[in-house]
Amino acid sequence: MPIRRRHGWELPESAATPEHVFLNRRSLLKAAGFVGLASIAGPMAAMAQDAGTGTGTASAPRNPEFTLDRPLTDEQLVTTYNNFYEFGSQKNIWRQAQNLKVSPWTVRFDGLVEQEREVGFDELLKAMPVEERLYRHRCVEAWAMAVPWSGFPLRSLVEFARPLGSAKYLRMETFLDPDQARGQRQFWYPWPYVEGLTMAEATNELAFIATGLYGKPMPPQNGAPLRLAVPWKYGFKSVKSLARFTFTEERPVSFWETVGPGEYGFWANVNPDVPHPRWSQAQERMLGTDEMLATRIYNGYGEWVAGLYAGMEGEALFM
Ligand code: MTE
Repeated sequence: MPIRRRHGWELPESAATPEHVFLNRRSLLKAAGFVGLASIAGPMAAMAQDAGTGTGTASAPRNPEFTLDRPLTDEQLVTTYNNFYEFGSQKNIWRQAQNLKVSPWTVRFDGLVEQEREVGFDELLKAMPVEERLYRHRCVEAWAMAVPWSGFPLRSLVEFARPLGSAKYLRMETFLDPDQARGQRQFWYPWPYVEGLTMAEATNELAFIATGLYGKPMPPQNGAPLRLAVPWKYGFKSVKSLARFTFTEERPVSFWETVGPGEYGFWANVNPDVPHPRWSQAQERMLGTDEMLATRIYNGYGEWVAGLYAGMEGEALFM
């Protein structure tokens, strides 16, 4: 039973959200089957079938622990303004990303586990407790969004993988296929995209594997069929289209850390007071608005995660 926490910034969603957005969202949720599912027949059933990979996401119950202090970002924007360097370095890669063949999809578990194995995505999803969470997302480039992810806690995936007690880190890797992803032909990047968390971070309540967005299966451009969502860290940690989970004693060196070690580190926790070497992190622009909001330490999630970093002041926790 989740413990309900109150946050300084927290308002009921209907109060935090302009009414037209709230009402639109209700109709969106209705279309996606969250509201009055029994009364929606044909089209919904067809949509659920189309979902194929990612089944289970449309019926994900919302976890009331994770609410927002800001309106949800427009779905159209979230699915057309993306960072996915495998398909190009511009934000408008959503069309190219449709090349990604997301079914069938296999996930590998290896390294310090009881037994190394490969599991089909659909089989993995069946074993996971699927739910919906409203999360903020803060890119290191100082734009932000607020999205309803569906998926399951990363902690559940870690339990499924059965790591050994000696594992200290979880290394996560994307697919590698330059035929599907032309960006991976750019030899100056260290493909495949890799990220890592400590085991304590990976098993924190907030760390989430998202398999859907706005009640629908994850679109390729947002990291289908499964991607990480660690909202207290800059967005580059939230690696997309995960194909491999490796438990290790060694701290993984991530994609952006390899590319620009002076600018991007392992920890990448959000902090308004620690500027990026080339720009301030004090404020963020919400996608779809000109509104600049004050950035919060740990992106507002300190109650969940600040304790993870107690006594680690010597580490570069905020780059
Ligand atoms: N994962 C992969 N495999 N490749 C990427 O280029 N970009 C990261 C992250 N995950 C990236 C990735 C960055 S910088 C951000 S901000 C988020 O994905 C963007 O997620 P979104 O496009 O769903 O908003």
